[in-house]
Amino acid sequence: MCGRWWRRGCWGSAAMLHKGWYQIAFARDLSAGLNGAAIGTRPLALVRDGDRIRAFEAVCPHRGANLCRGGTLIGEAIRCPFHGLSIGLGSARAGLGVAEYPCLSIGGLVFVRAASGAAGDLPARLAALDATAFFVPGFELVIGAPAELVIENAFDGLHFRIVHAIGNQPDLRIVAAGGSFAVEGEFLLPPSPWQQGAAGQSHVAIPYRATAYSPTLVIAEMGGANPYMMITATVPAGPRQCVVRLSLVLPPGDNGAPPDAAACRYLLDGARRGLMEDKPIWEAMVDDPPFAPVAGDAGVTGFRAFCAGMR
Ligand code: FES
Repeated sequence: MCGRWWRRGCWGSAAMLHKGWYQIAFARDLSAGLNGAAIGTRPLALVRDGDRIRAFEAVCPHRGANLCRGGTLIGEAIRCPFHGLSIGLGSARAGLGVAEYPCLSIGGLVFVRAASGAAGDLPARLAALDATAFFVPGFELVIGAPAELVIENAFDGLHFRIVHAIGNQPDLRIVAAGGSFAVEGEFLLPPSPWQQGAAGQSHVAIPYRATAYSPTLVIAEMGGANPYMMITATVPAGPRQCVVRLSLVLPPGDNGAPPDAAACRYLLDGARRGLMEDKPIWEAMVDDPPFAPVAGDAGVTGFRAFCAGMR
């Protein structure tokens, strides 16, 4: 695939959504009852009842008011702030109603699909992780770049050595393409408190696998003696702007104990530093960037083909 990728009004647009999963929020940020959210220019209503979180269209079907801007949740309906009509939660209800979207709340992360149809590979993967590991909700960061570009980074084998100063240029091999898209390779990383390696080693070889479950959600797995995963998710927030949410998934400690808090902070700080290294490059790119693939770009090319299938 070559030529232009995201174009105004198409990729990277705040108005055009793909049919895959978005991480719309951290559960810790949602209060009981009605919460406003958005994917690009599409407002959503998140309704929380204890641990149960549901997602609905937030545009009033009468005249288009945002039901979360002054609306009141009353039972299974929202009283619209514009003309006061009672708008039912779920379009199958009698009278005016708003559509419900598939919503997953797991490990403190809240995921939404603004589409119906096949759920893809993400729900089963998250359920498997939840059964064997600990989710560590991380941080949010606003970046002035299209949401897909941030996720594509996990598949861009050519940038890791240049931008992040790792010890090699990883040869990323495509290992899955279908309901998800995955690459594998190996990073040579300097020894760190997390991955120390043998005495005298200048670099530690760390197996790497990145799996995209939608154009805006990737799970990156770092192997080695102390494996961990990062879930990076983006949501378009306006023209050339997105919100990045990054979290960890860690194996249990001794006797099934939760992961060490200091270790989590260390890993999250490192992940944030990595994003901040990419950020100035992303934010300085033109709106309609060229793509002339060269050797080593297979991950990017494959990711873009995966994204095209999600439109
Ligand atoms: S716009 Fe909601 S009741 Fe009129």
